[in-house]
Amino acid sequence: MKKIQTEIIKIRKEEDYEKLEKGAKIIRSGGLVAFPTETVYGLGANGLDEKAVGKIFLAKARPQDNPLILHVSHIDQVLPLVETIPETARKLMDRFWPGPLTIILKRSQLVPDVITGGLDTVAVRMPDNPIALSLIDLSQRPLAAPSANISGRPSPTRAVHVVEDLDGRVDLIVDGGTTGIGLESTVLDMSKDQGIILRPGGLGLEELRELLPNIKEDKNIVGEKDPPLSPGQKYKHYAPRAEVLVFSGRMEDMVREINKYAQSYGDQGKKVGIMATEETKAHYKKGLVISVGSREEQATIAHRLFNSLREFDRQGVDIILAEAVEPVGIGRAIMNRLGKAAADRIIEV
Ligand code: TXA
Ligand code: MG
Repeated sequence: MKKIQTEIIKIRKEEDYEKLEKGAKIIRSGGLVAFPTETVYGLGANGLDEKAVGKIFLAKARPQDNPLILHVSHIDQVLPLVETIPETARKLMDRFWPGPLTIILKRSQLVPDVITGGLDTVAVRMPDNPIALSLIDLSQRPLAAPSANISGRPSPTRAVHVVEDLDGRVDLIVDGGTTGIGLESTVLDMSKDQGIILRPGGLGLEELRELLPNIKEDKNIVGEKDPPLSPGQKYKHYAPRAEVLVFSGRMEDMVREINKYAQSYGDQGKKVGIMATEETKAHYKKGLVISVGSREEQATIAHRLFNSLREFDRQGVDIILAEAVEPVGIGRAIMNRLGKAAADRIIEV
């Protein structure tokens, strides 16, 4: 891929928003702009411009059959993109947008095939971040935006992560600070009779159940045996360069096993990283220990997860031994991402 000049603009306060006009111009002329959302950084292009969307796949080295989410700043912007908005989908939008919920609906003819990977559905979401919303408004286009990482790498939660992966591959990076939630939106298929969660994310199953009591989860989220309904779920994902092993069980048992593995990998001359929690970090004697937060505050763990995986890489770790968390609330998404980073090597202790 030919290198291009990547500009970075920083937005922290009200006055800085003027600078977004430049981003909107780039979007309208078919370029690529990385921007923050409340979940992770997105790599944006005009979602109705086939050529611009094609550039996203090249910049990320993303498989062509993995469809993209279209980001909007108003619910009305969804209408031309879909066949209809069913009543329940409308209720979900009213209740949870802007926010970490991506809704899949039957697509209209306006949506280019590159967006949907040939499917008859399209994914839409309204991000809860003022920079993202302003950029969409100024561009006057729905923005196609996957996470702004090289495919397979942990998603970016800081502008420096985007620079690490995409410098020289995008026109502009909008640095809006650290993203709040830290992992991606929940992907919910509403194109069938019943809502099905295809990817757990920032919005918990429990909250969705309030509106959709019969909501289902794609089995692959936990198990990974049937062909996945969401193309994105079949690829190895969120993976640092180091190998990852996840340990699940009672806290004392996890600590004991991780210490055992750390010793054994250390003896083999490997550099070991341990993804610990506040409650356990003092109990590890070997390896580089990073605490992702208290087990009582899963939101903090979600917020720090991807940065911690990247930090282990920066430190040149060969193997990461990670503690599992309770798979409830956002913990489901944390375990889904950890499981994928570990290629499903989860050791029950
Ligand atoms: O939080 C997020 O969702 C972030 C920010 C930037 O908005 N975006 C994001 O996009 O995570 P991406 O492309 O990394 O993940 C989108 C997921 C993929 O797993 C993809 O396969 C799935 O959504 N997806 C998109 N359109 C789909 C469709 N029509 N049917 C089934 N799955 C779809
Ligand atoms: Mg992604």
